[in-house]
Amino acid sequence: MNKRIALVTGGTGGIGTAICRYLHAQGVKVIAGYSHGGDNTHAIAWQKEQAKANYEFAIVYGDVSNFESCAAMVDEAQNKVGPIDILVNNAGITRDATLKKMLVNEWDSVLRINLDSVFNVTRQVINGMLERNFGRIINISSINGQKGQFGQANYSAAKAGMYGFTKALAQEVASKGITVNSVSPGYVATDMVKKVAPQVLEKIIAQIPVGRLAEPEEVARVVVFLASEDAGFITGANIAVNGGQHMY
Ligand code: CAA
Repeated sequence: MNKRIALVTGGTGGIGTAICRYLHAQGVKVIAGYSHGGDNTHAIAWQKEQAKANYEFAIVYGDVSNFESCAAMVDEAQNKVGPIDILVNNAGITRDATLKKMLVNEWDSVLRINLDSVFNVTRQVINGMLERNFGRIINISSINGQKGQFGQANYSAAKAGMYGFTKALAQEVASKGITVNSVSPGYVATDMVKKVAPQVLEKIIAQIPVGRLAEPEEVARVVVFLASEDAGFITGANIAVNGGQHMY
């Protein structure tokens, strides 16, 4: 994987950081996408902190819910580093509420940021990958896209939508050396999961046969494998990383 170039959206977040680090460890040049409402303070601090630990990452701003912003983000990434070989669609948010209380903006923001984003970013890189006859696209979905989750009609719908996208695109580009797969983490020890009320989370952990939350690195290792040359015959697949919480 030496000298391959990867763009990881939501790269400065919990799972994103682990994915960036594991790709870097394989010799990949990594660009982390961030949004934070256009505020780059957090991303610059993150970049410096990573550099102290010997991880050199480029950072690019992009609002993944906006097509034009994604075009500018990918242009900047390719100008700074080079053509993107590996895309990890990892950016995502939660706005949990039962449907009877869910606000239109809670539905919209989750669908735009978690699902439209996959089109908005992938569309910018797909033609380059087709021209170069190589590409790895990895969509970070969720156990809750597979099984649904009380309080997450928006998130479960968006994450389930990623499977259809993954399988359709996988068929379109398979003959050109491009694979498209999804990874579905269960509950991972990140800030996103820590927002769930402790009494709710306790009940969820009780349903995980492995008996604990996942570490972000446990997801990152699967992403790195799917991104490698060795995984060329795996496409249109979904890999669950959920500690046995949902088996199918
Ligand atoms: N199943 C069935 N009933 C349930 C329930 C469940 N899991 N949870 C709550 N209820 C019941 C309550 O007992 C209560 O019943 P009564 O009205 O009869 O008393 C009722 O539902 C409460 O309904 P509300 O609309 O008032 O719900 P709430 O506001 O109390 O809670 C919520 C809503 C905050 C979204 C809460 O359901 C929740 O935290 N759900 C978990 C969401 C979750 O797992 N998020 C994961 C975030 S991390 C992530 O998403 C990463 C990833 O990919 C895994």
